[in-house]
Amino acid sequence: MPEIPKQPSVKRESVTRTLLVAFFVSLVCSSLVASAAVVLKPRQIANALLDVRKNILEVAGLLQPEGDVNELFAAVEPRVIDLETGAYLDDVDPEGFDPVQTRKDPKLSVVIPAELDIARIGRRSKRAVVYLVRDQGEITRIILPVSGYGLWSTLYGFLALEPDGNTVADIIFYSHGETAGIGDFLTKEPWRARWPGKRVYDDAGELRLEVSKGRVAADDPLAAYRVDGVSGATLTGNGVTNLIRYWLGDHGYGPFLKNIQGGGS
Ligand SMILES: Cc1cc2nc3c(=O)[nH]c(=O)nc-3n(C[C@H](O)[C@H](O)[C@H](O)COP(=O)(O)O)c2cc1C
Repeated sequence: MPEIPKQPSVKRESVTRTLLVAFFVSLVCSSLVASAAVVLKPRQIANALLDVRKNILEVAGLLQPEGDVNELFAAVEPRVIDLETGAYLDDVDPEGFDPVQTRKDPKLSVVIPAELDIARIGRRSKRAVVYLVRDQGEITRIILPVSGYGLWSTLYGFLALEPDGNTVADIIFYSHGETAGIGDFLTKEPWRARWPGKRVYDDAGELRLEVSKGRVAADDPLAAYRVDGVSGATLTGNGVTNLIRYWLGDHGYGPFLKNIQGGGS
């Protein structure tokens, strides 16, 4: 019987070698990516904090283009509050308070009842950090973190109120996933400029502040509480109204603002 010629071993070896090389290359690459993620994590956290502080300084009216954000932030007083009572929790360090983590903890957060969940948040932390600016001990601005669903995404921002707790000083949205060129009007300066001076509650204490559908008519009796909406992007505007109404309502910062309006400091 004729002998069957053996397969040259070089071929099998080269397949094994190729697989081994591919394995080691991917091992080295994944180790590099993992180490980079670990090494860069503290820097990412620091940058995120810096960004938050910059936005707070901006609505506080304290941001200076050449200034050091962390130094300027020393003029801002972060305070942790209990949202249900509106009272300050002086034993809780605002530096260590992480609203994102707290919101996930069932012991430290509450489910928002469906009928109140107009901002479609689902649940919220029992506590929040508010930011105060003072001049000679007197509050000059109150800055409140706000969030809620727009059309496609959760919008995150800061609403600044005058010391009466009833007049808008400024608003900024620093994160959203609305459509570029349609729903992103909320980050544009001309729209932001329409907020200062708007009133939150009417004389009967009713929460009235909202974004209109389209422009607010000059003779609108509720013009003091209404901000121009953007035609073609009403749904994102509705999301802003809903988050404002939730966070300034009784389940949000309402009790805290009542304390301020009642002379609390
Ligand atoms: C691709 C696409 C993306 C859209 N993105 C947004 C958006 O981010 N925000 C928004 O309010 N409307 C957006 N719209 C428009 C809404 O579907 C809706 O028509 C609009 O908000 C209604 O506003 P109006 O009543 O002023 O016309 C988008 C529409 C399309 C087709």
